[in-house]
Parts: sequence; structure tokens; C-alpha cells
Amino acid sequence: MPDGNQAAIGQPALRIDGRAKVTGRARYASDEVVANPAWAFLVTSAIARGRLRGFRLDEARAVPGVLDILTHENVGGEAEKPKPMAGGDTTTTLESDRIWHDGQIIAVVVAESFEAAREAAHRVRPDYEEEAPSASFGSPGAEEEVRKAGEHKDYKVGHADSAFKAAEYKVDQHYGTPTQHHNPIELFTTTCAWNGGKLTIFEPSQFVYGLRGGLAKQIRMEAQDIHVVSRFVGGAFGSRGAATARTAWIAIAARRLGRPVKLVATRDQGFTIVTYRAETRHHIQLGATRDGRLTALRHEGWEVTSRPSQYNVSGTETTARVYACPNILTKVNIVHADRNTPGFMRAPPETPYMFPLEVAMDELAVALRMDPVELRRINDTGTDPATGRRYSSRSLMPCFDQAAERFGWSRRNPVPGSMREGDWLIGWGCATAAYAANIGPAAVRITLEPAGKARVQIAAHDIGTGAYTVIAITAADRLGLRIEDVTVELGDTELPAAGLAAGSSHTAGICNAVAKACAEIRARLAGAATVTNDGPLIGLDPATLTLRDGALHGPGGRSEPLARALARVAPGALELYSENIPKGLPPESIDKAYQGQMSMSRGHSREDVTAYTFGAQFVEVRVHERTREIRVPRAVGAFAAGTIINPLTAHSQYMGGMIWGIGSALHEETEIDPKAARYVNDNIAEYLIPVNADIRSIEVIMVPERDEEVNPLGIKGIGEIGIVGMNAAISNAVFHATGRRIRNLPIRIKDLL
Ligand code: MOS
Repeated sequence: MPDGNQAAIGQPALRIDGRAKVTGRARYASDEVVANPAWAFLVTSAIARGRLRGFRLDEARAVPGVLDILTHENVGGEAEKPKPMAGGDTTTTLESDRIWHDGQIIAVVVAESFEAAREAAHRVRPDYEEEAPSASFGSPGAEEEVRKAGEHKDYKVGHADSAFKAAEYKVDQHYGTPTQHHNPIELFTTTCAWNGGKLTIFEPSQFVYGLRGGLAKQIRMEAQDIHVVSRFVGGAFGSRGAATARTAWIAIAARRLGRPVKLVATRDQGFTIVTYRAETRHHIQLGATRDGRLTALRHEGWEVTSRPSQYNVSGTETTARVYACPNILTKVNIVHADRNTPGFMRAPPETPYMFPLEVAMDELAVALRMDPVELRRINDTGTDPATGRRYSSRSLMPCFDQAAERFGWSRRNPVPGSMREGDWLIGWGCATAAYAANIGPAAVRITLEPAGKARVQIAAHDIGTGAYTVIAITAADRLGLRIEDVTVELGDTELPAAGLAAGSSHTAGICNAVAKACAEIRARLAGAATVTNDGPLIGLDPATLTLRDGALHGPGGRSEPLARALARVAPGALELYSENIPKGLPPESIDKAYQGQMSMSRGHSREDVTAYTFGAQFVEVRVHERTREIRVPRAVGAFAAGTIINPLTAHSQYMGGMIWGIGSALHEETEIDPKAARYVNDNIAEYLIPVNADIRSIEVIMVPERDEEVNPLGIKGIGEIGIVGMNAAISNAVFHATGRRIRNLPIRIKDLL
């Protein structure tokens, strides 16, 4: 490798930010120190649909320490509503008197203390003009429409309807997934501080440039007058992707007051002031031959969104591409209700859409009396069936085979209810996981010092995934340094722009940018070293020189220390700025990143190749014969995602995805009062998530895979795929244990009585 190789890539490395995090030295947004802050508390709507006639504020104003109360009546004209990440429209907050959903921000109280602001917020008396709201699917007044906006496609290959009618074996079923809400450990916070006409914002973010660009438009400022800082993020996965309404109002509150304002929204407000995973419904039709070959796949989805938004995830883009099938038809519809606008949550399209497909595949295997792994093998393909393009790499069956072997699948008795231990019915199920291999543009600045230290600056984000560490690993690998000699600065709009930390694209985007910058540094050093008169590398072909162990090496054992090589190109440290625009993205995508617009190549690196990551997940469930309690004693997942930069954090990432998948299948559901269109369990006591005792053995297998077509480092991304197969694998295992086919999530005791 001409880029030099310290062999750091692919070696397990501890998080370089781990010590700062566990000692409290890591500053999360609301920990950042500002002088003399005032505190904000949000007032949210107690009705889901209607108008505000006005407010009675006298009681609130009388609370000692209250400084200001913002409502649509006094600040409504000062901000536009934010643009949601996925485009389209969204609901208003203080911009108007309109109430679109329960829990909408309708006023902001600012006071000398958090306690005073909270006290006064509870004394704000809104005067509502209420209308009957629609909560969800099937509610009176909910409006269904065929999805019209968004960048996703509906696929039509062959003639799915006639092929389905003619099929010898069929599955024709309806499925559903519930509303789920983000509950990152770090609450949703915003701190705003003005200095003259310049604004600094501390807010947990997956895209500081996106927040800056979006907010500049909202409050009609120049983007360069806004500085956004988000050095550490306590959980995200879609919940910190786009600018949300609160930021503009806190900025305006701070401007009115001439003093920094800090908001830490409450846990229950987090259910309505940011986005969430919307409930979905599905109709799946599968047709197959006697030997299990799919002849028809029809997948129609329905997704809930807010009244004005066209937001949808259209996971049919993935379900149409998993198995060989000559006749495919997909369609997505949206249903408008009086709800806040949904948004991304871990594997936004795949988590809800792969569930019905993979349960339907299990149902087909049962109908065919075929092993479900063999059914996947028969329908495996090297060609993306939706587009006819080949896959850049696809290791689905190696994943199935290795996971099945580790799980002991060959010992499975396929008859439902046939395996038991004492009072516990044992069920074994499996499912395919798939996720598009994405990449975004990124710029980076690297400063290399003669003492062999490097500093990497990039406005990327570590949302807990290990981004700090993979950047250090990549720079160490390519500059021939030790990981501990690399420092990394992230999450700040004063650093070079990187895209959105989402879509499992971030490691690919930022590590390829870092590797490219390191290659440029190596080329400069090598170029100078080979033309100088006073060094050992004179006359060598610069392309043969590598950076390794703090020195520049040539063939034949010739080398010179880094400090000497560096002195030829820079008087002190060498500072290099570099931009990386991945194949498949337009040249302007880097400028767009600076402007805060997301670009991401989705599932393709070139026009003629489809790039997807695949995995296979196996689960054992135990259902108590009498209480119907459901346990998951073990799960095995195998994934092939190209190059793994840090196997240690990758393992954690996959494991975290599988644990979230257990929560998704068995625990998580936001309950909605159908009459009030109100979230009922908006706290983490009643919004169920798995606890430690729910999680037993989670095994992760990283199947080796090389894919140099996706990007130079061959990274396909791992952030989301770990959750994707879990919903279906668990449902399929429950069927195997009990003979009950559960097509609506979550699976609860009541479903098995
Ligand atoms: Mo992710 S749900 O793309 O942050």
C-alpha cells in the first residue's frame, strides 16, 4: 500500500475519548460554561388540534425571578419554522396561533433559575379553541394519501399482480409496527449566547453545519455569524439530525434578554418537541414455486405523519432488493394525523419494513415445509432485483452459514412447540438484515508536527459510536504514528465540514476523507525527500515511499525520521486541508455540507453498482407455558460490512443494535390516547426498554469482506444493520415456540394468552 500502513486499521482499540467520558471531563452541550445564564422552560400544548385565542400570563409573570415569556403574540414573526431533514413541510410552534399536535411548544418562559422558569411555566394559562383531533390510522379525520414527495422510488419490475395470482405457494398478510420514541440518556438541550451580532449555540447534534444553516434561514442571519458546538453527544440515532423548533426560540430569548439562555427540556417534552419513529402498516404478498423460488413480491406500506408533512421512510426501497424475484411491485402511502412530525430512528426504513418481509419469508418457509435458511439460499442473488445492477459485494449466505453454525441451528426441530425445557417452550427463529452502504462528503484539516504528533480537525460527530477513535486509527495507520499520538477535534462549525452522522455513512465518509488527506501529506513528504540532495531517499520513486513508525521509508531499508522529512516541506508543523467527494456525489456536495445541506450516496457508489450491507440474525426465545412470559436467552448476529476500522467498537455497535432490536420487538411502544391524540407513556418508567436482566447472551460475528468499489477504504457502514433483523427473528422464534404468528409489534404476553 503506497499510503503507508501502521496496521492500525482493523486492530481493536480502546476509545480515545473513553477516559474523558467516564471522568466527567467530556463536556456535553448543557455542560458548556456560559457567563450568567438565564434558564428557559417550555410550555407545551395540552390539546392536539385547534388555535390559541391568547394567554393569561399575570400569574406566571408574578413568579419571582421571571424575566420574559415568549409566545406567538410577541415573537411570532421573528422566526420561520425549521426545515425537516427529509425535506417537505412541518408543523409550526410560536410562529402562529395554530396547534398541530399535543405537546407542541406554545410558549417559552425565561427566569433567573430553572426552578422559577418551571414554576412560572405551570402558571401560564393558554386559552384554547379546541377541535377534535385524529390520533393515527383509522381515526376519524385522518387523511390517507399515496406518498408523493421524497426521494424514494416505488419499484415495478415485471407483473407482480398476475404472478402472485398464478403462484403455487402464497403468503398474503398484514403487519404493523408501533410508534417508538427516542430516549437518549442526554436530554434535549440548547444553550444560546450572543456576542454582538454573533450567536454561539451549544446543542447535541448529528450535524452542526446543518443546525447552523437551518437556523440561519429561520432567524434570517448569515450562517457565518452562527457558531454551533457539539463536542460530545449522549445518544442520537436520528433524534439530533435536523434543526428542531426549540433552538430558534432559545436564540431569540437570549437576544431579547441580552444574556445567555439555557434550556434543558424534560424527558416527557422530548416525546413531542423532536422527532420519533412513526407507526406503520404493511400488506405483503409473496408468491413462490414449489421449490421455493420467489415469483412475486408485493409490498405496500402505510406510515403516519403530521398534517403538513410528507415525511415517510419508504423501506420498500430495501425490501424490494433483498431477494431474487422477477416480479416486484411496491407502494407507500402516508396518513396525516394531528401528530408531531416523525423522523429518523435507527435504520429508519429497514426496522419497520424488514419486519413484515422477514416474517412473511418465515411464513412462506412453513408453507413450503422448507428450512427458512434454505429459503434464503434459494433466493440469494448477485443482482439487485429492483434495478438489475450487480451488488458491489453481498455476503448474505456466508453470514447465514456462520451464524447458523454458531447458533447450532442444525439441532432445530422445525415443528412449532416441539422444543421445550421444563415449563419453558423454546423457539428458534432467524431473519435477514440489510442496510444500504452509504457515504457522504467530508473535509478535514490535519496538522502534523515534527515530534510525530498529529491533530485531526473535522466537524464530524461521535454519537457514542466511536467516531473519535476510528478517526485516530485511520490517521495513525496512514501517517505511521501511534494512535495515542493523534488528537481529534470534532463537532464544531469552526472545523472543516463533514456531513450528517447518520445513515451508517459517517465512518465511510470521514475515514476516507482522513485517509485521502494523509495520502496528500505522504505525497508531499515523499516528493520533497526524493529530490533533495541531502537525504537517504534521493532519487527514489516517491510512490514507493511509506510512512511507518515515525519515519519515511523507501525500498532497500532506506529511511529518514519524520522530523527531517517534514522540515523540507514546512518550517514547523505541516497543516493540510483536504476535501473528499465520494464517487456518485456531485462536486458541489462539499459546498452543500458547509451550507448545512445533507448529501449522501444511498446504496450505490456508481450508477451501475448497488452497495448494500447484509447480515443474518438468529434468536432463541423461551415462552413460559403458563404465564406466557417471553425471554430472549441468546441471539447470534453475523454481519459482513467491508472494512472494519475498529473491531472493538464495531462489536459494541452491532451488539447495541441487537439489544435495541430486542427492545423493539418486545418492549418499545408509545401508547397514544385515541381521543386526545396524546402520548400516554411519555417517560422511561412506562415507555419500556430492555434492562440488563432482559439481555443475556449476544454473540456477534464479523464476517470478513472486501469491497473496494464502495469507497477506497472499503467501508460499508455498521451503525444500523444490527437492529434490522431482530424484530422478525424474534417474531419467527415466538412462532416456533408457540405456533402463534404475531404480525404486530411489540409482542407482549397478551398476544400469547
Ligand atoms: Mo440515523 S437513524 O440515520 O441517525
